[in-house]
Amino acid sequence: MAGDVITEMAKRLCRKHPDAPARTLARRLVRECNNAITIDQARLRIKRQFGVHGSMHRNRLKPVAARPARAAGVSYAMPKSAARPWEPHVMNVLGPVGILSDVHVPYHSEIAVAAAVGHLKDQNLSALLLNGDIADFYRISRYTKDPSQRDFKGELSDVRTFIEWLRQEFPRIPIVYKLGNHEERWQAWLWEHAAEISDDPRMSLRAWLNLDKHGVTLVEDKRPVMLGKLPVLHGHELHGGSSSVNVARGAYMRTLSTCLVGHSHRTSNHAESDMWNRETATWSTGCLCDLRPDYARINRWNWGFAIATVHKGDAFDVQNFRVMSDGTVRTA
Ligand SMILES: [Fe+2]
Ligand SMILES: [Fe+2]
Repeated sequence: MAGDVITEMAKRLCRKHPDAPARTLARRLVRECNNAITIDQARLRIKRQFGVHGSMHRNRLKPVAARPARAAGVSYAMPKSAARPWEPHVMNVLGPVGILSDVHVPYHSEIAVAAAVGHLKDQNLSALLLNGDIADFYRISRYTKDPSQRDFKGELSDVRTFIEWLRQEFPRIPIVYKLGNHEERWQAWLWEHAAEISDDPRMSLRAWLNLDKHGVTLVEDKRPVMLGKLPVLHGHELHGGSSSVNVARGAYMRTLSTCLVGHSHRTSNHAESDMWNRETATWSTGCLCDLRPDYARINRWNWGFAIATVHKGDAFDVQNFRVMSDGTVRTA
């Protein structure tokens, strides 16, 4: 009977440590049964439970933790993961935060930008969030380019001027600049044309746009920006896209979470209440660019921007605004 008890002990050890070397578990088995068996007997029992004890008993005994035979002393470790951590950017801020996106400088609408910035300047903002596609980067896109359009140097210079102007309009509040798909053209273009120096900090968008000089924080890598409990995305991060009849509902269907997106150039709101009456709401904001670009003359875009007010405890309220063709600001 003693043999049965020790076999049960061997089974337990093999189930608990299926990747441990057989010799290590055999030593432990000898110790746990107070030297009632020898190390060789213990090793045989352990190997039986791993199903690597030779062909004679293999069909007769059912191992509890079958594994392929391995050379003595060899154990395999899981390879290190190459995945990098991906965390949201948390803006520790209370009060109203202005959210502007899809300006597409130098193809911005002067009427829309003036209306949005003018309205936000009257709100005593705590911070400003530039939610992607602030720059167009037309000349470095993958699409066919009209050679008569602005040169890339000119485009970059206009984006730099736009940031300088924004800092002048909002001199004392934090400004966060989250990259959209149009700004990502910069990295793609660098990898294609100057891969060898693409990781030099002097080649970064931060350096080219003088963001450090103007105290503008850059958010890259498609990371959401948290305004209290509200995740803000540009919109191109959503796998499969969010464009649908109602963009905000599309964003809900992709995330099943409260969120605010830009990118689709259309203002919309959506809310759901689950069986526990928990509310989930999503918003999409309009753009501040030319509404009739040559690549999309007819579209359903509209001008707009938003304010998210963060309260103590991270609760928040969103006001989604539309800008009319004459520059009047209306709630959506
Ligand atoms: Fe856009
Ligand atoms: Fe976009």
